[in-house]
Amino acid sequence: MTQRQLGVNIDHVATLRQARGTDYPNVIDAAKMAQAAGADLITVHLREDRRHIQDRDVVALAEVLEIRLNLEMAVSDEMIDLACRLVPSDVCLVPEKRAELTTEGGLDVVTGFEQIREATAKLHQAGCRVSLFIDPSAEQIEAANAAGAKVIELHTGDYANAQGHQRQAALDRLCQASQVAQAFGLQVNSGHGLTLANVQPVAAIEGMRELNIGHAIVSRAVFVGLAEAVKEMRQAIESA
Ligand code: PXP
Repeated sequence: MTQRQLGVNIDHVATLRQARGTDYPNVIDAAKMAQAAGADLITVHLREDRRHIQDRDVVALAEVLEIRLNLEMAVSDEMIDLACRLVPSDVCLVPEKRAELTTEGGLDVVTGFEQIREATAKLHQAGCRVSLFIDPSAEQIEAANAAGAKVIELHTGDYANAQGHQRQAALDRLCQASQVAQAFGLQVNSGHGLTLANVQPVAAIEGMRELNIGHAIVSRAVFVGLAEAVKEMRQAIESA
């Protein structure tokens, strides 16, 4: 079985800082703590409205991290230029709507094909590994492969929000999507809405490689501390 990796998303450490315009809690210290506690990569979403992570955070993280930095960003010229300058090891292209609370739904690679294909090529040329954040649909996976991506991240929001039979159905869709993607030779990651209570069935999907988890880890850190919250999530993933 392939080793599952944990990407710790620290956006909401920055949310807390931005809520008061202070210089604490320190996002870089949080990243270092997550790294020491066993995170395989640090994930941040530089949103166009800069509601949590700021440009200076991404610059500093790219300099200090010993593990991989996964930059989630919209497919815009501004973000692509920034990523080509900073060259984080990983870029995850995500859809973005200004008024949304969080990333709602995956990237529509079918509709935005040409723009996403060009962005993927530019980012590959700069030296970033490119992942496309998509819903678990065969049509989107096929388009992601045609656009040149080597990695997809399956949006697990529907699974996380569903109950009972619907949750099982959503899990089945993730399993099928993972198989379709692997048949194309794509690496399969997942993320969104994953918690200690719901992560294991996703981590157990055949071929699942990386799980990017933020809100649940930072929330849990309020009670047990960030290092412990990261360790707990790692353990849950490893024992899935
Ligand atoms: N993966 C992607 C592509 C995301 O956009 C997000 C949210 O920023 C996450 C993972 C993490 O989601 P959550 O904070 O719900 O764990």
